[in-house]
Amino acid sequence: MRKKIIAGNWKMNKTVGEAIELANAVKLELADCNDVDVVLCPPFTALKSVSDIVSETQIAVGSQNMSSEDEGAYTGEICHTMLKEIFVRYVILGHSERREYYKETDFWINKKVVKALEKNLRPILCVGETLEDREAGNTEKVVEVQVREGLKDVDAAAFTELVIAYEPVWAIGTGKVATAQQAQDVHAFIRGIVKDMVGAEAADAVRIQYGGSMKPDNAVELLGQPDIDGGLIGGAALDATSFAAIVKAAI
Ligand code: G3P
Repeated sequence: MRKKIIAGNWKMNKTVGEAIELANAVKLELADCNDVDVVLCPPFTALKSVSDIVSETQIAVGSQNMSSEDEGAYTGEICHTMLKEIFVRYVILGHSERREYYKETDFWINKKVVKALEKNLRPILCVGETLEDREAGNTEKVVEVQVREGLKDVDAAAFTELVIAYEPVWAIGTGKVATAQQAQDVHAFIRGIVKDMVGAEAADAVRIQYGGSMKPDNAVELLGQPDIDGGLIGGAALDATSFAAIVKAAI
């Protein structure tokens, strides 16, 4: 039985002061939540403050990106040592917004995934098709390439640590959530790809989150699907009550 995992991707929101306020509000709601893995992913500038706030709780922190390289001459980048120093455990990699706006490719995303695992961080690898892809009937084709390329050279054992997030781009921030069946179909497809790549045990173990307008009013149906193991939450994560409601829907 896979333990559900709900992560809040705060994206480019919350100053340090606002992040402290939100983290404290979430802590009040979820500090003792053992039934679900809860992860907060603030902007880099607030990571240490949020990490300090949740340090004595079951809540983990994650970053929204990470360099594929070790420390050195990489202007503007953040590396694994800097994240581990402040007890970051998860790293969101390959988010569609980074693929679209910053032209991140599967090749570089895979280097980041491999580096994160090498350094005992847990990647949350984001995959998902655009509306154009879906309308052209290319959803599975697009997602398969992202999964196979993004997880290239990853050992079967690592699939108990890493998380895959299926985020249909057309559902992100739009309020147009995928139906539970649409999401389940792609999640099952992704699990089938993992089975083909590294075997049934790893495929059964890997957790696959859904992301894309998951809200308190649709979370129960989505999380009730057999291959949906959690959520990667954007907008609803910026409000402690909404985020906590989604976590409680996962219990
Ligand atoms: O990474 C999660 C995010 O892309 C989903 O955003 O606002 O649709 O929940 P949202």
